[in-house]
Amino acid sequence: MVIHLEKVVPVGRTLDEYIKMFNLTEDDCKKSILSVADGPASFNAEGSQLGYTIKSVDPLYVFNSEQIKNRFDEVIDNIIEQIENTSNNWVWSYHKSPQDLRKNRENVISLFCEDYEQGKKEHRYEIGELPKLKYKDNEYELGLISHFLFLYSEHFDQQFHLDSINEMLRVCQEVRLFPLITLKHEIYPYLDVIIEAFKNKDYECKIETVAYELQPKGNQMLKITKL
Ligand SMILES: C[S@@+](CC[C@H](N)C(=O)[O-])C[C@H]1O[C@@H](n2cnc3c(N)ncnc32)[C@H](O)[C@@H]1O
Repeated sequence: MVIHLEKVVPVGRTLDEYIKMFNLTEDDCKKSILSVADGPASFNAEGSQLGYTIKSVDPLYVFNSEQIKNRFDEVIDNIIEQIENTSNNWVWSYHKSPQDLRKNRENVISLFCEDYEQGKKEHRYEIGELPKLKYKDNEYELGLISHFLFLYSEHFDQQFHLDSINEMLRVCQEVRLFPLITLKHEIYPYLDVIIEAFKNKDYECKIETVAYELQPKGNQMLKITKL
């Protein structure tokens, strides 16, 4: 896939948000983690500082930090304005207001950009895209994917979702996905079909409620574990 920067919305989340979105325990954080569709999140930057082993994968990483930051600067006003205009449609429990959210996202992009070029040299940020990953079977203990699968289901069909989750489970012993809703704030319509498909392949599938919600009903995470 050729990725066009003018179509990308490089807005990411913090380590604390990842911990809450994925119910990560201290033991989970010690695992080898593959974080797919990680974009400009500061999860890797902050986690690596604490000694965690995290590899981030995203097609966005064909760009350099200046290009990603410039694109962030181009889109952030519009995103926050849209959220301010619909502020009753969002949950202000973790982030307290649209301006608080903006502060968070600006902090994230700074942390990401400060870490990115060095992280690329250390192979902590690698270019890659679902539904295929270049890693070996079971190379990672834990796979995470936040705000990509399910959320953009208008652009990616059910087969893409099945293939992508299958691929993450080939590479990781356990995969966690968040959120389980679409951009219309509705539960992904084929969630049951996906869960049934993996249960039939001898995986344990569990939906867990998490302590993070920005989109209403977006406080659930799917955990799929190899039995
Ligand atoms: C909304 S961002 C989420 C960033 C990060 N996970 C977070 O929650 O802060 C979605 C990311 O998905 C990436 N993406 C787009 N197509 C992809 C694909 N086929 N495989 C993996 N990532 C993809 C985009 O480049 C973008 O960085």
